[in-house]
Amino acid sequence: MAKKNLLTGMRPTGKAHIGHYFGALENWVALQHNYHSYFEIADVQALTDNFNNPEKVRANVRELAIDLLSVGIDPTKATIFIQSFIPEIAELTVYYSNHVTIARLQRNPTVKHEIKQKQELFGMRGEGVTYGFLGYPVSQAADITAFRGEVVPVGEDQLPLLEQCREIVRKFNHTYGDTLVEPDAVLTEHKRIKGLDGNEKMGKSLGNAIFLADSKEEVTKKVMAAVTDPAKIRKDDPANPEICMVYYYHQLVSKEDLPTICQECKAGHRGCVACKKQLVENMMTFLKPMQEKRAYYEAHPEEVDAILLEGTNRARTVAQAVMKEVRQAMKIDYFEED
Ligand code: TRP
Repeated sequence: MAKKNLLTGMRPTGKAHIGHYFGALENWVALQHNYHSYFEIADVQALTDNFNNPEKVRANVRELAIDLLSVGIDPTKATIFIQSFIPEIAELTVYYSNHVTIARLQRNPTVKHEIKQKQELFGMRGEGVTYGFLGYPVSQAADITAFRGEVVPVGEDQLPLLEQCREIVRKFNHTYGDTLVEPDAVLTEHKRIKGLDGNEKMGKSLGNAIFLADSKEEVTKKVMAAVTDPAKIRKDDPANPEICMVYYYHQLVSKEDLPTICQECKAGHRGCVACKKQLVENMMTFLKPMQEKRAYYEAHPEEVDAILLEGTNRARTVAQAVMKEVRQAMKIDYFEED
């Protein structure tokens, strides 16, 4: 059977942490062999939020490329590309915007939630929401369809965006004839990884994240400050690993040691400090292969650029072919021979 097309993306706004890894990247690496895979560095989308901070987006484009390569995205198998260098995505966005009402965008649960968050953060009123931000689901529909994306691995928070894309595709095809492919979401198995402080969300701004590039000193500092069972006061008090963030992280990276850790913790045979030190060791073992690859790419920036350029060129060829079909369907292919 022919391989299907997979497309997914990430905004280049910061270094990847283990929440990104277990929540998305691990899955991407596994899937890249089963599909024609496209991994988009969504700089245009990042700019909807950071239009007044272009340096941040710029700095993180290569950063994200290195993150993708270090976790094991294979540039000879998959295509890594930069969104802003595919003008067809911007073109499609314009045409798709005729098929989406403003009310529909405002009802999109993801967009709604993000607008609310912004308002809480900046005290912004409704009029502070830009046209570009409100419209990013339309642009994301263009990201996917420009590559005939059939399979889109995303977290749960992205499902409303996928649904919006499917609606656009159906409306477009209904209006102009079957042209675009309706994608399916593939939910990533792992749920959202909690922060070291027990917060539901791991994030740079929250200071509770372990980054894939963190040194042993950084990991040690963060793990030592992690939240454990508050009922455990002395080293030999029994504790409940289910409410301990250190155990939660052991579950991610200490597979073989896990039964012992759990048993000793419950029996009061394991002090928290020793347990944390073991987590640091196991975390560093887990991060090591990625950090070695990262070191290689950081030492060879010209190779990273070559991968990005090649991927982007390859992606552009596909998007151009789709654009041609869209123009035909919309009867704006004025200079094409019949
Ligand atoms: N919105 C996605 C996120 O914030 C990133 C993204 C951009 C994306 N374009 C995409 C995801 C296309 C899937 C498909 O995580």
